[in-house]
Amino acid sequence: MSKSRRDNAGGNRNRQAHPRFARARALAAGLALPALLALPALLPLPAAAEGFGLGRTALPQELAAWDIDIRPDGLGLPEGSGDVQTGEALFSERCAVCHGDFGEGVDRWPVLAGGQGTLADRDPVKTVGSYWPYLSTLWDYVHRAMPFTEAHSLNVNDTYAIVAYILYSNDIVDDDFTLTRENFATVEMPNADGFFVDDRDQVEVPAFSAAPCMHDCKTDVHITRRATVLDVTPETETDTETGDETASAEAPAAPPEPTGLDPVLVAAGEQVFRKCAACHRIGTDARNAVGPVLNGVVGRHAGAIDDFRYSPAMKAAAEDGLVWTPELLDAYLTDPKTIVPRGRMSFAGLRRAEDRAAVIAYLQAQEG
Ligand code: HEC
Ligand code: HEC
Repeated sequence: MSKSRRDNAGGNRNRQAHPRFARARALAAGLALPALLALPALLPLPAAAEGFGLGRTALPQELAAWDIDIRPDGLGLPEGSGDVQTGEALFSERCAVCHGDFGEGVDRWPVLAGGQGTLADRDPVKTVGSYWPYLSTLWDYVHRAMPFTEAHSLNVNDTYAIVAYILYSNDIVDDDFTLTRENFATVEMPNADGFFVDDRDQVEVPAFSAAPCMHDCKTDVHITRRATVLDVTPETETDTETGDETASAEAPAAPPEPTGLDPVLVAAGEQVFRKCAACHRIGTDARNAVGPVLNGVVGRHAGAIDDFRYSPAMKAAAEDGLVWTPELLDAYLTDPKTIVPRGRMSFAGLRRAEDRAAVIAYLQAQEG
């Protein structure tokens, strides 16, 4: 109460001093005459000279009715008291229909008691006893907002008594306890230390701001589960034949290479493919680029990627039934123009036969 009066006085002082308000006053005085002629009912002139002429000073009773908040240390609590026995009677009369006789909650109305030790569970029970850090919140909330349909109907002593009873139903006080303004701050709430100041700017932001690892992040690959075990892949006959979960979990990591491919050659081909990578993508998520995506190109008809715009020459070759056999690819990669003379692949060609063999093996390893 005294706080708000002080604030008001400060506000008035500022208003007097501030040039903007001085201008507003002058403006109001200047406008007053025409306004007066036009609207004789509005006669705010004397008041406007001192301020805005709005409202009046609040009465102490009005401030008291408005100033009902209770701070965690108990500041703001009115004088009064109430014991558990009285609280129990009041609670069963005014609260139990929704919250249950012991605060256990009827149907889906809020539970007020119990749940201690469940906060880390999958389904925590958050109550006054298990969760609320401050008793002042309980006093303030009940006094301000409960019973649900009759807010502000509880007097001060009734509120003390009901709060004492809710503490008792949470095993925080004994049945002979009387809650008063004086002993209010001595009540220890079980979860008082369960909250901490938000430190995400120091803990999470740095953790998530570090540059993410994009390559060579793991030295060894360790398969822990397989899609078939996780049950996301429909079972096929092979699954049922090859055996149980354990067997498939221990299956070798890499899919078997297409027969006859030399892994060393494939690896060398991956290096050679860097020359192609300026224009071609390959792999699971590959898209068309300057050139068409090359997944499964070995053994495929030429010009077969639907959404790629091939040159008319490549289309014509495709219509003639050109198929990318390893032999034909070898010739195309030596000098594209010998196979598709007016084609669009502006690539000088791979001079060395072993480079061509390697890159073809690499293409073969990347199936459709
Ligand atoms: C008509 C049903 C009803 C009655 C009667 C009632 N309450 Fe409530 N109470 C509610 C509802 C609904 C809420 C949740 C309100 C919300 O979340 O806005 C609630 C919330 C509460 C909470 C906060 C629970 C939490 O964990 O968030 C407390 C404490 C409480 N009531 C105490 C009381 C007390 C004490 C009385 C008797 C003086 C009482 N209530 C009477 C319906 C009721
Ligand atoms: C400068 C860009 C560029 C480079 C580099 C390049 N290509 Fe191409 N490639 C293309 C284009 C464009 C086409 C489509 C040609 C057309 O439509 O005539 C193509 C077509 C192909 C095709 C035929 C695809 C099909 O669907 O019919 C193959 C195979 C191919 N390239 C392999 C390679 C390989 C292997 C390399 C590296 C050794 C390579 N390309 C390097 C641009 C390039």
